[in-house]
Amino acid sequence: MNTPNQAPSATEYGGDEVSAIVLDPGFSTTRAGFAGEDTPKSLIPTYYGKYSFEGQEKLIYGDDVFVTPRPGLSIHNPIGRDGIVEDWDMAEKVWEYSFTSKLTGAKPGNPLHNGLNDVPEGEPVSEMEGVESEEKPLADSPLLMSESSWNPTKAREKTIEIAMEKWGTPAFYLARNGVLAAFAAGKASALVVDIGASNISVTPVHDGMILKRGVQHSPLGGDYISSQIRALFKSNSPQPITITPHYLISAKTAVEAGQPPQVKYKTFPPERAPDASYRTFLEERTLSEFKECVVQVWPGPTKLSATGPNGVPNEEMARSSPGRPFEFPDGYNQVFGVDRYRVVESLFDAKAAIQDPETLFPAPTQAQTVPEIIKAALNGVDVDIRPHLLSNVVVTGASSLLYGFTDRLNQELTQLYPGPRVRISAPGNTSERRFSSWIGGSILASLGTFHQMWISKKEFDEHGPNIVEKRCK
Ligand SMILES: Nc1ncnc2c1ncn2[C@@H]1O[C@H](COP(=O)(O)OP(=O)(O)OP(=O)(O)O)[C@@H](O)[C@H]1O
Ligand SMILES: [Mg+2]
Repeated sequence: MNTPNQAPSATEYGGDEVSAIVLDPGFSTTRAGFAGEDTPKSLIPTYYGKYSFEGQEKLIYGDDVFVTPRPGLSIHNPIGRDGIVEDWDMAEKVWEYSFTSKLTGAKPGNPLHNGLNDVPEGEPVSEMEGVESEEKPLADSPLLMSESSWNPTKAREKTIEIAMEKWGTPAFYLARNGVLAAFAAGKASALVVDIGASNISVTPVHDGMILKRGVQHSPLGGDYISSQIRALFKSNSPQPITITPHYLISAKTAVEAGQPPQVKYKTFPPERAPDASYRTFLEERTLSEFKECVVQVWPGPTKLSATGPNGVPNEEMARSSPGRPFEFPDGYNQVFGVDRYRVVESLFDAKAAIQDPETLFPAPTQAQTVPEIIKAALNGVDVDIRPHLLSNVVVTGASSLLYGFTDRLNQELTQLYPGPRVRISAPGNTSERRFSSWIGGSILASLGTFHQMWISKKEFDEHGPNIVEKRCK
């Protein structure tokens, strides 16, 4: 028998021929694909839809969520704002959909004969007989999953239980997404700065392991940035901006910049209207486009509210540079000048946050800003390795694609740490930046040496779910 700290023997794991599945569940999207490939084949929203039809509850997953504004359709997320699963039943369903819809299909499988759980001669096989007849979606596929660095033990155990018992995976591993992003950048040690949807996080990684005392996270992720853009829209001039998703528009006419939209709205009688959460969900798509096309991070070296090295206030400089145009679904369009910097300045300078009494996001504190959480992360690790981490800063997460983000981060870090060399590595390739933890998982799970790391079904049965704490450090 193995102790939980030992690797499974070759008889327990012999699955070099089968390709593992890598599942990287984020707050906004869930990424899944085959280990060894460059990008995840499956990319779905983590949000799901719920409505009732003829008295029965119906659920919608994947991109279908966007399609039809059904009566009463509401949108939900099984993951909480802190990045930890809140609704396990639904998390299981969404994740399962992410691989069954595009990768595995719902196929029958027999874990006794797939080479991953070979039963040593002479041992009774009766305990697995029940499993044999059931159709479990991952019966043929080892599964590597990612998680946030602050995922609690209970949640980690629950995850391996779902993978082993519900999906029937023959081998499982749970990896911190910071470690995976470091691997994707070709580094075993790095300071990983992840700007996602629900959170920003900083994870110091040393020799492929997270340094737990240094892990920091704060709520100023992409959804917070969206809330700042909404705050800007409310106070926008020449007129406040309302985002009207396409499903509420039946006809529109082109208008000049800054002119009120000329639009015919679609209306729904109350009993046919989707829930407000559906509209918010679709508005988020427009906000995401706005971030991609308009929003810009003030380059520094001083903050936006300060005066630049030439004695001119930065805001004035920003005003004199050409703005960026954006057209909303209802045809309203305008050029955004200095405001395009203001909506993200609070990631660096909490005082710059645009106030909105109605927002669900509490006003940020300086301790939650990117430079401050990096400082806190470095203060949490050994002094000797700080210079090495600073010269290996890995920037990841789709919100880090904000135009100018890495330049500003570089400025801030060089000012905070004038001594050591600061080096930021951030792939220019968009999909590498968006999928880096998935890509790291794809690399890791296909390494020849990795097979010793998998937790086999047999070990799980022997030691219980807590084996995940011992093996997946
Ligand atoms: N080009 C872009 N520029 C700025 N923000 C972007 C861009 N593309 C996507 N985003 C934003 O990035 C966020 C999604 O990031 P990401 O996919 O890294 O999050 P996640 O992994 O699903 O969530 P989390 O890391 O919080 O669990 C969304 O808020 C989206 O609006
Ligand atoms: Mg993420």
